[in-house]
Amino acid sequence: MKNFIQSLLLLIAVIVSTTGAEEEIYAKEGETIALGSTSYPAQSYVYWYFEKKDGHQLAWFNPLGGKAFSNDEKWKNRLSLNGASLIIKNLQKDNFGTFVCKISAGGRDSITAFKVIQVNVIEKSASPLLSGERLSLTCSLGSVPQNPPEIYWLSPKGNREGNKGTVSITARSEHHGQWDCVVKKNGKEKKFPVSVTVVDLAPVPSHQYTSTVSPLTIPCSLIPGVTWDQVKKKEIEEVQWHFAPKLSSGTFSDNPEHLFSLDLEKLTWKKVQDNVKGLSPVYNIKIGNLSLTKSKATVGDRGRYTCSMKFKNDRTLKTTVDVVVLEIIAHPRAELIYGQQVNLSCSTGEQLPNDMKLNWTSPKTSSPYILYPTHITVPEVGKEDNGKWGCELWQGGNKLTSVEILLKIEPRLSVWMLVIICSAAVILLLLLVLAFIHYRRRKQKMRLRRHRLCQCKNPKPKGFYRT
Ligand SMILES: *[C@@H]1O[C@H](CO)[C@@H](O)[C@H](O)[C@H]1NC(C)=O
Ligand SMILES: *[C@@H]1O[C@H](CO)[C@@H](O)[C@H](O)[C@H]1NC(C)=O
Ligand SMILES: *[C@@H]1O[C@H](CO)[C@@H](O)[C@H](O)[C@H]1NC(C)=O
Repeated sequence: MKNFIQSLLLLIAVIVSTTGAEEEIYAKEGETIALGSTSYPAQSYVYWYFEKKDGHQLAWFNPLGGKAFSNDEKWKNRLSLNGASLIIKNLQKDNFGTFVCKISAGGRDSITAFKVIQVNVIEKSASPLLSGERLSLTCSLGSVPQNPPEIYWLSPKGNREGNKGTVSITARSEHHGQWDCVVKKNGKEKKFPVSVTVVDLAPVPSHQYTSTVSPLTIPCSLIPGVTWDQVKKKEIEEVQWHFAPKLSSGTFSDNPEHLFSLDLEKLTWKKVQDNVKGLSPVYNIKIGNLSLTKSKATVGDRGRYTCSMKFKNDRTLKTTVDVVVLEIIAHPRAELIYGQQVNLSCSTGEQLPNDMKLNWTSPKTSSPYILYPTHITVPEVGKEDNGKWGCELWQGGNKLTSVEILLKIEPRLSVWMLVIICSAAVILLLLLVLAFIHYRRRKQKMRLRRHRLCQCKNPKPKGFYRT
């Protein structure tokens, strides 16, 4: 039995050595590749040839420690051995082809062939690309084997793109990053990466929700990884912020205000008008963050903000954000006395879309009387209504923003009112006392003067004669 297995293995070895198993290797110019296995039987003579068995000898070694490499210009100084594995550094155009490894041990030869196929990865477009320009990538083989592999591109987002190794699309921000040409055969694949730079603004949410008690940040930034040098290479002319207020009709003013302009040399924002609505630019402009921010939003911030970059030849990139500010108003006011009626309204200043809901929070657990979702009324306020009333804006399980108002409700005669009334009474009393004292003083003085006039003799006051 043991003998049988041995002879079977021998037979297989002979078949392998005669049919010459061939392995395909896909590689790019400039790459370093390793062919074959590092291990080999004891007492072996190992030979590496190019193109065919016994063709141009690239490398060999023997059990006595002898070793040599081809001296040909085509290969010089780029070959080495790791065990029986042949390593080729910095592949050149004419290094692609078939490599044959012959291992002679115990009088038997085992031969393996490696077909190294060139993969050409070409980015035909300008680099960096400006969003909107054409992105062209091709990935092709220097020689197509009988049974060709599958070739396709993976975008930075991991999506398969293009057709038969060719991509030709309009460049957008999502195309910025590493693309991979994938060569796949028999379940094995190899990726050939290419880095693509697309100058663009990062996508922003169409709406920014905030409230009169919350900060406001209006986002705008270059896509991460894009530098100002690359932007300048595309001949940037202007970077600006504009604001179009929301009109009562629900539309935006078609005469937007110009808020800021970027100094492209110093990379600092300049105010274009004095009234920039309390907005200030963030400090990380150098890393491409062009956002504006303020610590508390106001109703006057409602509107559409546009961040734009203008390049030579009238090419413009821009992002727009509609700022929605939630506000609570108390009617007639927020300071009330027991028994008064108060109406609270919570709104963004416009009709809410169907998928948005408001809900109210009140200091007491019982719900107030809800007129319609944006308005509630408390017919007679009492002690338990004193405190923070809130309103939240929800969309599909997400809280977009919330706002609060403090209702101060006091008894008809509150302690403060008593204090004020008492102090008024005391002040009045004091005034009366002062007036009385003053009156008494005057009277006393008059009496004194009359007394003095009677006593004096010399000199006599002029124009004064006693009768
Ligand atoms: C830009 O800066 C603002 C404020 O510091 C920050 O909230 C935002 O996340 C930054 N954006 C990016 C893209 O880094
Ligand atoms: C509250 O709203 C109701 C219904 O709209 C109205 O009749 C009432 O006068 C309002 N009260 C106050 C104090 O505004
Ligand atoms: C408000 O409503 C949303 C859904 O409309 C809900 O998920 C959320 O829990 C509610 N919040 C409160 C405080 O009731």
